[in-house]
Parts: sequence; structure tokens; C-alpha cells
Amino acid sequence: MAEHVTEAAVRAVLGTVDEPDIRRPITELGMVRGVVVAPGQVQVGVALTVPNHPLKERIASAVTDAIRRLGPSRVHVDFTAMSEEDRGALRMSLQGPAHERGEPFAESRVVAVSSGKGGVGKSSLSANLAVALARRGKRVALIDADVYGFSIPRMIGIDRRPVIIDNMVIPPRVHDVAVISVALFASDEQTPIIWRGPMLHKALQQFISDVYWDSPDEVIIDMPPGTGDVALTMAQILPLSEVVVVTTPQPAAQKVAQRAAYMARKVNLTVSGVVENMSWFTGNDGVRYELFGAGGGDLLAQQLGVPLLGRIPLVPALRAGSDVGRPVVLSDPDGEAARAIEAVADRLLTAPTRRRRLPLLKVT
Ligand SMILES: Nc1ncnc2c1ncn2[C@@H]1O[C@H](COP(=O)(O)OP(=O)(O)O)[C@@H](O)[C@H]1O
Ligand SMILES: [Mg+2]
Repeated sequence: MAEHVTEAAVRAVLGTVDEPDIRRPITELGMVRGVVVAPGQVQVGVALTVPNHPLKERIASAVTDAIRRLGPSRVHVDFTAMSEEDRGALRMSLQGPAHERGEPFAESRVVAVSSGKGGVGKSSLSANLAVALARRGKRVALIDADVYGFSIPRMIGIDRRPVIIDNMVIPPRVHDVAVISVALFASDEQTPIIWRGPMLHKALQQFISDVYWDSPDEVIIDMPPGTGDVALTMAQILPLSEVVVVTTPQPAAQKVAQRAAYMARKVNLTVSGVVENMSWFTGNDGVRYELFGAGGGDLLAQQLGVPLLGRIPLVPALRAGSDVGRPVVLSDPDGEAARAIEAVADRLLTAPTRRRRLPLLKVT
């Protein structure tokens, strides 16, 4: 066993341990309080950002594992919680003073997944796309804007409340995606500040202003069904966002999706592409059955003059994955649904965006 582990060495190794949701080293966040080194053992004090932090156990094992790599066989972690004052200072160090806080998505690409009507696979696509983009090394935020029919937390596998630090909501992270949804605030008297009424406009606004997003590369927004008011809200709150329209192959769905796309354009949002979902089902005989007809995605893309970003087959594993919080791109990555969604992610990343040209336009 290595002796002579120094306090400095322990602190250095703790600098490699990230707070799992905030994704910054615990040393940087002021969470490491005391380090006591004795032969063969180390004792470390860790101040959690809030008492009973939901990820306490995870933080404990990360701290223990990191220190054990230095040699000591006995590691003791003493947990305390930050004071109100600590939390205020932490928030300030993460966000800066209120008057200096800019638009949180100024550097991000914002993609709203829309369709006009429900049941076509917006939420399934949003969750899987977010995970697929994170797997490509992107920093990804997923906002569940379907305030009436939220399904993102279940689909992506989040079942804990966000931690709130001095009125700053930390989005819980799962599969490397930072997620926020009204569902995460349901029946919590502690958080009236974030959720006062079931209104899309207000929800979106608060999801953007009260949440610590830390400049994600990609923001995926799972939109509620609906056309006019939904597009208008998006345009008012995130005027530079893009819309990806989801449709099924049948003409009825394609017509509704077309209306959603036209509304988006009317309020100056960019429609960047169409995704056709439930395009076919591959039977045991290997034959592709087009259960909902064919051509809706292609036709819509043509009508809108935008690319068809992909066609996703009907696959039981996709629904099953959504039901247990494990998106199909993780639960069955080699299956045909996952591969189709991965292809959509690739095409989306190579498609031009308005947002990325912003810095050029800002030259004064
Ligand atoms: N390609 C697919 N294959 C199998 N099931 C799917 C597929 N797309 C969506 N589903 C299932 O259909 C239902 C509706 O999908 P969802 O993503 O919730 O649609 P929306 O968000 O548009 O209302 C869900 O149960 C989902 O798991
Ligand atoms: Mg949905």
C-alpha cells in the first residue's frame, strides 16, 4: 500500500470528480471542505449543495474511488450541506450577477420537434435524438415543452426532482443529457417559483430563465401538439430556433404537419427538415410492411422545400425502451430504429443553421 499520500494529492484527485448534474469538479464548486490524511486512510468532508442531495451516494462512491486510486484502503466521506450563503456564492460563481446574465442559448442550436398533432412520435424522437447527439460528444439539453402531456421524464428515465440552488434550477442529467420538464416539479410545494400555471408560454420562459443550462451545443425541445399558439410562443421566446416536423406516412398526418410547418414559417422560425415516423414494420419474414401508407414524409419535405432527415420504422423495441426510460439508441443501438434515428442526428448536425451564423452578424 502506498504511504505518504499528501493532502495536496487528495485534493488534486478530487479535482477529477465532477458533480454529476452540474458537471464541474467538486473542488471548483467549493464542495470539498476538509481533507485529513493518516497512514492508509483519508477522511474528506464534502458539502452537498443541498441537504439530502439525490445523488449523494453517487458522489460518495466517486470520491471514494478517486482517493482509493492513490493507495489508501480506508476512505471516509463526511457529508454536510452548504449554507444559504454558500449556495448564493455558488450560484454567483456559476451564473455571474443577474444583470450580466445573457440569453442562455445564445451559443446553442435550438431545435423544436413539432408535428401539429399528438401520437406521431415527437417525444420519442426528441428523447432519442438528444441521447444520440450526446453520444456524438455534444453538450445537450432536452426541454419537455409538452406541459399538458409530458412524457419525456419517463421516456428518458428521470425520476428525481431537480436540485435548486438559490432559486437556480439544476437540470437533472441522464444518459449525458440535461433534462427539464414540468413533470419534474409536479406536486412540490417547495418550488412555486418555477411553476405557477399550466401555460406553455410561462413554462418555456421559466425553463429558460430559471434553469442553469451552461451553454449547451444543442437544445432539443419536445413541443406540445398544436400549431398556431405553439409556434407563436416559440417565436417569441426563442426566435432563432429551428423546427423539425414529424409526420407519419399517411396523408392526414402529413396535412396537419404541413400546417404546423406553415405556422412556424409565418412567425419566422426556420423549418430545417422533416422526419417521417412509423414508416414501415419489418416482419419476421424480412418484408417491410407499410402499415400507415407511404410517401407522407417525402411529400411534406417536397412541399416545404426542406430535406427529409430520415424515416423511422415502427419497432416494438422503441416503445419498450421509452416505457422503461432507456431510449432505443441505447437499448438496441444496432436495431433499425436506432440506426434510423442516428442517421437523423447526423443529418441534423450537417444541416446549416441560422444560429451558428449569429456571431458574424453581430459585428458592429
Ligand atoms: N417508431 C416507433 N416504433 C414503435 N413505437 C413508437 C414509434 N414512435 C412512437 N412510438 C410509440 O407511440 C407512442 C406515441 O409516441 P410519442 O413519442 O409519445 O408521440 P407524441 O410525442 O408525438 O405524442 C408512444 O407509446 C411511443 O413509444
Ligand atoms: Mg409527446
